[in-house]
Amino acid sequence: MERRFLSVGRPIFAKNRFIGGIFVLASIDDIYQSIELVRNLTILADIGAILLALGFTFIVSRKLANPLLEMERATRKMAKGDLNTKVSVETKDETGSLAKAINDLAVELYRYRSNQREFFSNISHELRTPLTYLEGYARALKNKQYQTEDEKEMYIQIIEQEANRMSKLVNDLFELAKMEEGKLPLHLEEIDLIEVIENAIAKTKMKAKEKGLQLYFHNIYQLPSIYADGLRMEQIVINLIENAIRYTEKGFIKIELSNDQDKVKILIEDTGIGIPKKDLLFLFERFYRVEKSRSREFGGTGLGLAIVKQLVELQNGTIHVSSEVGKGTNFELTFPIYKGDAQ
Ligand SMILES: Nc1ncnc2c1ncn2[C@@H]1O[C@H](COP(=O)(O)OP(=O)(O)OP(=O)(O)O)[C@@H](O)[C@H]1O
Ligand SMILES: [Mg+2]
Repeated sequence: MERRFLSVGRPIFAKNRFIGGIFVLASIDDIYQSIELVRNLTILADIGAILLALGFTFIVSRKLANPLLEMERATRKMAKGDLNTKVSVETKDETGSLAKAINDLAVELYRYRSNQREFFSNISHELRTPLTYLEGYARALKNKQYQTEDEKEMYIQIIEQEANRMSKLVNDLFELAKMEEGKLPLHLEEIDLIEVIENAIAKTKMKAKEKGLQLYFHNIYQLPSIYADGLRMEQIVINLIENAIRYTEKGFIKIELSNDQDKVKILIEDTGIGIPKKDLLFLFERFYRVEKSRSREFGGTGLGLAIVKQLVELQNGTIHVSSEVGKGTNFELTFPIYKGDAQ
């Protein structure tokens, strides 16, 4: 083997006279061996670091990819309609919260789908009933299955009533759909509630009179105005007065206006059949009626209060009901007072 040396030589002078020299020769094999060792160790460390990095990346990517793959599988199942699927990732990091969001979405979709189903079965039921009447009485007329002119007149009246009922149902559904999509145009302006209520009373007092019910209106002097859509406010009040008339056999219906510092309050009170406590919670749901068979006899479809609630909320108001069976019902509405453009 070739050996390596380090050599150093120096001349020695004394009084500017060369008197000799010194020459040192040392083997540097050891140094080279050490360098070799360090180099080998560095290469080994590099390889180790690369392997470690690869392993780490692999583990991390598996750890990330597994839950993501599970979420993908779950969302695909949900998309196919299996909304009972759950993602079982329960970590406390971003992946965990994404999994929770997916699970929440599935619950929401499930609720939406059942609502939708119930809604369609309600619609078809509500449409089928008047259609059966229409078909039956139209056939009876066609086949002249009546004995007297009065009987014939009655059949025609039923047909007219049922046709009106259907067209009201279709209109109500259309309105509700527009409200829920936020597409109902509102003409908001400063309005005087006293005028709105007087108009609503003018339109409903005939019905009250027919049933022998008193219709009172207590207003107050100088009621602050509110910012709302006058016609929609009238629709709200008419709906509530019509309900009061429909579900009251004797007594009165009282409409009262009042205000505090920032709200105007409308109270509509009746002395009617009342609403059981257990029903109050669902009263504003679409198609909800306290007694299905009886309200049909009264002519209702159960959409009135759902529409009222939407309209009240679209105009920043609140609606609250309290009732006692056999005594009567109170609907209380509040709307913020209009404070001018500075509002
Ligand atoms: N003032 C009231 N007194 C007693 N029950 C009421 C009163 N208002 C509403 N209800 C009950 O609440 C139910 C829902 O009312 P809502 O106005 O939504 O429907 P409806 O009057 O039956 O039909 P619609 O208003 O669509 O013609 C009614 O069917 C009735 O049972
Ligand atoms: Mg009603």
